[in-house]
Amino acid sequence: MKSSLLSSLALSTLIPGITSSSGTASDGGCGKQLPEGVQSDKSVDLTLDSSSGVTPRKYRLHLPPSYDINKKVPLILSFHGRGKDGQFQEALSQFSNASYGFDGIAVYPEGVPNAKGTQQFQGDPDAPASINDVKFTLELLDHLQSTFCIDASRIYAAGKSNGGGFTGLLACDPDATKRIAAFAPVSGAFYLDKDQKLPECKPSRKPVPLMEFHGFKDTTIRYLGGPNTRGTTNTTNIPTYVDDWAKRNGFEVAANKTSFLCSGKKKVTRYSWDDVVVHYNYTNLNHDWPSSFANGDTEDALTCVEAEATSIILAWFKKWTL
Ligand SMILES: *[C@@H]1O[C@H](CO)[C@@H](O)[C@H](O)[C@H]1NC(C)=O
Ligand SMILES: *[C@@H]1O[C@H](CO)[C@@H](O)[C@H](O)[C@H]1NC(C)=O
Ligand SMILES: *[C@@H]1O[C@H](CO)[C@@H](O)[C@H](O)[C@H]1NC(C)=O
Ligand SMILES: *[C@@H]1O[C@H](CO)[C@@H](O)[C@H](O)[C@H]1NC(C)=O
Repeated sequence: MKSSLLSSLALSTLIPGITSSSGTASDGGCGKQLPEGVQSDKSVDLTLDSSSGVTPRKYRLHLPPSYDINKKVPLILSFHGRGKDGQFQEALSQFSNASYGFDGIAVYPEGVPNAKGTQQFQGDPDAPASINDVKFTLELLDHLQSTFCIDASRIYAAGKSNGGGFTGLLACDPDATKRIAAFAPVSGAFYLDKDQKLPECKPSRKPVPLMEFHGFKDTTIRYLGGPNTRGTTNTTNIPTYVDDWAKRNGFEVAANKTSFLCSGKKKVTRYSWDDVVVHYNYTNLNHDWPSSFANGDTEDALTCVEAEATSIILAWFKKWTL
């Protein structure tokens, strides 16, 4: 990572035209014509040469209808769950859907198949140790920022299940926290090691805004923690995970503001530490991306409109810049 950053900085000072007068390497993509095969408001599957342990790596890209090569826009990375792909995650998280009004670039990176052929990201117990998805993510950011006009202070990460757990790993990574402004894991799979501990968490800044969504009836990645469906590894207790983020960001656990959304069987409890750390607990939701319409997860993904994860995430990301 260090060397690729250095080399892109070196390149931008050597080659005139990569930087504009006010530009930096991180907005080196501004002013560039779109690569062949890429057009606004049309999702496309692309690959990137990578030194993450396997190459090339796949991702799906969506530019907003209003994309202008001279106007910096935010970027959201949205990571899929175990066994899924970029196209599935696009339909699930809806960041490309104009009706949610996100005026930025949405990218759906893809994991790599494990020994059993199941596609997944780092963090899952079956993920090959030889593959470094954090490195892939940083390489992808380098590439996207030198190809498209992206506001380096407004880059965000979200993900579902294994992709949510991976979003949590990015939030703990010293390099990723220099590049990504806020993190939103949904039904995150936060695996414990043999000593029942989470991986080391070493963000390079404080606070790190993080928002977690979880169904209280999640039978895949249990709200109160315990064995995953394969029975091989425990995931952590979700309120403990969220409390740890509150503490890491300098809050007292008890200092949260509690409020409620929806009602009856759809009741949602929201905990907020100054909006920096936020947790939504869905009374009757299973292992889903909360949505008011069928979105690829099972039909019990249905929640009321005010508790849709996509709208909540988009409104909350807007608050945070690096
Ligand atoms: C876009 O979102 C709306 C709800 O806001 C939904 O009705 C529609 O089906 C979505 N479109 C796609 C292609 O998923
Ligand atoms: C999961 O947690 C339970 C309770 O703490 C423990 O007894 C069990 O050994 C753990 N399982 C694994 C695979 O670590
Ligand atoms: C929020 O604070 C209350 C005390 O004010 C505490 O009982 C509760 O556990 C906290 N919620 C979370 C999710 O930590
Ligand atoms: C989550 O919601 C369930 C169902 O409403 C409730 O029983 C449980 O106490 C809640 N847990 C927290 C930490 O809010």
